[in-house]
Amino acid sequence: MAKSNTTPVMKQYSKIKEQYPDAFLFYRVGNFYELYGNDAIKGAQLLELTLTHRFKNTKHPVSMVGMPCAVADTYVDTLVEKGYKVALCEQLENPQKAKGLIKRGITQLITPGTIMKGGSNEAEDSNYLTSVVRTKSSFGLAYSDLSTGEIYTTHLRSFAVVSNELLSLRTKEVVYNGPLTDQDNNFMHKANITVSKPILLKGKHAEISYVQQKLTNRAEKEAVKQLVGYLLTTQKRILAHLQIAKSYEVNQYLQMSHTVQNNLELTASAKTGKKRGSLFWILDKTHTAMGGRLLKQWLARPLLSTDKINYRQEMVQALLEGYFTRENIIDALKGVYDLERLTGRIALGTVNARELLQLAYSLQIVPVILDALNQSDSTVLRKYAAKINPLKDIAQLISTTIIKDPPVLATKGGLIREGVDKQLDRYRNTISNGKKWLAQMEAKERKKTGIENLKVGYSKVFGYFIQVTNSNKDKVPLNRYTRKQTLTNAVRYTTPELKEHENLILEAHSKAINLEYKLFVELCEEVEKYIPALQKLARQLASLDVCYSLATVAEQNNYCRPNFHTNNQDIKIVAGRHPVVEKVMKAGKYIPNDTHMGSDTDIYLITGPNMSGKSTYMRQVALIAIMAQVGSFVPADSADLPIFDQIFTRIGAADDLISGQSTFMVEMDEANIALRYATKRSLVLFDEIGRGTATYDGMALAGAIVKYLHDKVGAKVLFATHFHKLTDLDKTLDRLKNIHVSATEKNNKLIFLHKVLPGPADKSYGIRVAQLAGVPPMVLREATKLLKRLEVQNNKLIPTSKRPDPLINSSDREDKQEKDMQNGDDNRLEVLRVEKDIIDKIYNLSLMDKTPRQIMQMVENWQEDLKDK
Ligand SMILES: Nc1ncnc2c1ncn2[C@@H]1O[C@H](COP(=O)(O)OP(=O)(O)O)[C@@H](O)[C@H]1O
Ligand SMILES: [Mg+2]
Repeated sequence: MAKSNTTPVMKQYSKIKEQYPDAFLFYRVGNFYELYGNDAIKGAQLLELTLTHRFKNTKHPVSMVGMPCAVADTYVDTLVEKGYKVALCEQLENPQKAKGLIKRGITQLITPGTIMKGGSNEAEDSNYLTSVVRTKSSFGLAYSDLSTGEIYTTHLRSFAVVSNELLSLRTKEVVYNGPLTDQDNNFMHKANITVSKPILLKGKHAEISYVQQKLTNRAEKEAVKQLVGYLLTTQKRILAHLQIAKSYEVNQYLQMSHTVQNNLELTASAKTGKKRGSLFWILDKTHTAMGGRLLKQWLARPLLSTDKINYRQEMVQALLEGYFTRENIIDALKGVYDLERLTGRIALGTVNARELLQLAYSLQIVPVILDALNQSDSTVLRKYAAKINPLKDIAQLISTTIIKDPPVLATKGGLIREGVDKQLDRYRNTISNGKKWLAQMEAKERKKTGIENLKVGYSKVFGYFIQVTNSNKDKVPLNRYTRKQTLTNAVRYTTPELKEHENLILEAHSKAINLEYKLFVELCEEVEKYIPALQKLARQLASLDVCYSLATVAEQNNYCRPNFHTNNQDIKIVAGRHPVVEKVMKAGKYIPNDTHMGSDTDIYLITGPNMSGKSTYMRQVALIAIMAQVGSFVPADSADLPIFDQIFTRIGAADDLISGQSTFMVEMDEANIALRYATKRSLVLFDEIGRGTATYDGMALAGAIVKYLHDKVGAKVLFATHFHKLTDLDKTLDRLKNIHVSATEKNNKLIFLHKVLPGPADKSYGIRVAQLAGVPPMVLREATKLLKRLEVQNNKLIPTSKRPDPLINSSDREDKQEKDMQNGDDNRLEVLRVEKDIIDKIYNLSLMDKTPRQIMQMVENWQEDLKDK
């Protein structure tokens, strides 16, 4: 173990490690990083590296793994991705100049919430570090993306709301000042969130008072202070790009829990977790990484203010109508790099010359964008252009300072253009004159000595030399030449003249490199002064990119601009479509549907066979509402909408993976949240609630929930159900309307029309769907008979269809058993219980989830059960 080994190096190591017990300590030794002790043992496992030992032949060998510094990045990424932290411990002095043990210290703590991966132009997602402060009465929450420096903060009433924010932000790391209950800990663990203790800062820090300046709430101030404190201590550098913290209220936006966002597949498909199949997938036609990130933020936080929504709509419309403006802008935007992250790198001091040029190129494009906007007919676009500062000076400064194709390293020279600095030019002149002199000397010496292949060369160790091959050794004028180095087939010489020029060249070279680096740093410092302006410009371009994207999507898919009214909650959508489902279908195949929920309709009770389109219809309404409040156009011929304050869902039967609860618990939990927090201004989607439990339980609960929503909540509710009995509720609940998704028969086959029509669905479609799925006719006939009987026997639990059923012939209908039952023959009751049980199963069977083989198996089991009786 590291502790028992008392060599000076290990003592130094232990002292540093003590301060970072929860991080992997990467200890720099020359060109390697080494991990010792437990870090090494665990690291070897996680990184698949070979475990070796240091001080092998002593009493106290130390476990060790090592890696070249050049490849360390990927190992750091791997560990941090798994939720660990890495402390980089560097050599703080030049090993050649150090006396005794080299000074070492931690230069950066890399954590899941602060890691910045890859270059500056490939980041589609934000990585948020979140800080949570528990005060007496509330929770302060603040988060920041270190690569861009934006900071947001809010205060929340309970830990439940805090956890929801954490999930919505997809935060990887939380700095938390309070103790966590077991349940909270469990939540963090399942959500893959690393919990870090706050680090107390001593003294005053300019960064903190700067970012806090607009805040008034105490919990928010504390959260921001804790956040910035953590960033400063882990990063150990000045963070000039941290932006003034913006306070937000969760209720300034259309509120949707993380589960709701997932259920509605706003940014990722629920099935695959990928972008494809999500609303973001449809809407994202952005051309910059910052635009993509901004669109995601807009989707997660749709607006409540009609003015703000209107403004976005105006922008989208102007771009939609101005085809040429749009095309010109986008051609230009394509060349814009990730300004947000570039600015971050400038602030963090990690920017290189190539990235500075990327910044300059991007800035040079801005005037082109401004021209396009200014030439537009739209006043909105022209006004937008007037607000943009293209920062021409900065672009000019960078592009006239940095050469065209600079190296990544700033310490090796070759970065700065000619004419930038007189002294640098002088050095370069000396170098180039020196080199010219060398060439001339080579020619001269060849002539003088008669050695044809004599040549002047340079090596790092020996400097400049004259090289002569062994065969010509005798011709060397030893009175002038001094031997410098002997190779196998040649000898290298120098002369006093050469020595003198060598000194001139090398000195000029080393001075030039140092001067170039100094000039580069000065340039960075100059650019740094423009960080707030660059950040503002980045946001303006990102917004423009998003509006462009929304305009393009609206045009390609024939969306309309929705209208809003604030005096009532009426929904009026004509020919609405589901943006994603319509897109994955062949053009023209999607059947549009209207939604008219006026003041007389709060609840749509939706029935219809499996696979007819109930779920699709409900989601389509929610997605249209969300898109509208984001400022996007919507997939419909026209849409008149209220502003919703919250959206609640209970959709699908997938278990909640994060909390690990059972389906039914999750179902009730989500239903409960909707019942408690929904207001008259909310939109509620309940899809087949009660499915997760026994039929009668489920139906009773579903019925009670509908009634509660109707009587007590008054939200707009779309309620899809397979409990046909519930369609009777329209007799007692006057703001409930039955609608159904229609299907029809042709040649005794069921055809889905996907058309939403008034009134309840015909209940016997369940059996018709079975027929469609290829269930044998005998079973279908039997099922139909049993269904009929059951309707009579079971107090008409399921409303009788008025239509005669074509699947049953008249002789069947006069079946003797039926008469027996109607006569109330008690002996039949036990048999009927079994039959009814089977009927229930058939009735509730979701056929589309089953293979024909599974259905055959079930039918066989039912036959067995029937035979037993
Ligand atoms: N309006 C529509 N137009 C065309 N096809 C539709 C429509 N609505 C749904 N569908 C198709 O029907 C399938 C089943 O829809 P879904 O909403 O899951 O049905 P349900 O919830 O009634 O079981 C969808 O995957 C889609 O392919
Ligand atoms: Mg469904």
